[in-house]
Amino acid sequence: LEDPSFSAAVIDWQKSHGRHALPWQNTRDAYRIWLSEIMLQQTQVAAVLAYYARFLERFPTLHDLAAAPSEEVMAQWSGLGYYTRARNLHACARRVVDEYGGVFPSDPALLADLPGIGRSTAAAISAFSSGTRAAILDGNVKRVFARVFGIDEFPGVKAVEDGLWRRAEALLPAEGIESGIESYTQGLMDLGATLCTRSKPDCPRCPLRERCVAHATGRTAELPVRKPK
Ligand code: ADE
Repeated sequence: LEDPSFSAAVIDWQKSHGRHALPWQNTRDAYRIWLSEIMLQQTQVAAVLAYYARFLERFPTLHDLAAAPSEEVMAQWSGLGYYTRARNLHACARRVVDEYGGVFPSDPALLADLPGIGRSTAAAISAFSSGTRAAILDGNVKRVFARVFGIDEFPGVKAVEDGLWRRAEALLPAEGIESGIESYTQGLMDLGATLCTRSKPDCPRCPLRERCVAHATGRTAELPVRKPK
């Protein structure tokens, strides 16, 4: 299953065509990275930008957020939707202060034990804040993999999702590649968000086009398989 040319293609593409100037990039501050990943879980970049800036003005550090009254956290979140994220965010801030002295753990397994942080978000935070080699698998990445590998089963099924996680692990760039995991992780996210979109994917610009089963078989519109009724 291992194939170093897959991660190399994603990393090369990310360096020349990916996004490099988002406000949560070019930092290793786990607080800022964590906040961005939680806001981006169910909300697009364009909608997050203004909230992210305002939130950091009001809560510049993890300690400011942990010490704030819940009503104020909810008020700052107001408009972003999916309010469970805001309640978990606040609970998570308090736990990192109480249990880790205000320093986010770098181990993705410890991160994933905190409120609001699932396996994929834990891996992203860990990759971006400490260069830890860990696999992400969010909705965008599932779509990229379903198309590239021609997975014609609904990825919401546990066994199918398990298979996608195994692929995600196997495709990680080898250890020791300079800024490899950061570029690779951001590259997969950017590919899914900007080229391998749900409708009208921009296959001509895709670095994975030549190895993409969906492209080769004209099935980009059918993959990933939608939830069966
Ligand atoms: N979606 C989730 N995480 C992201 C990130 N770090 N940059 C852009 N979009 C994202």
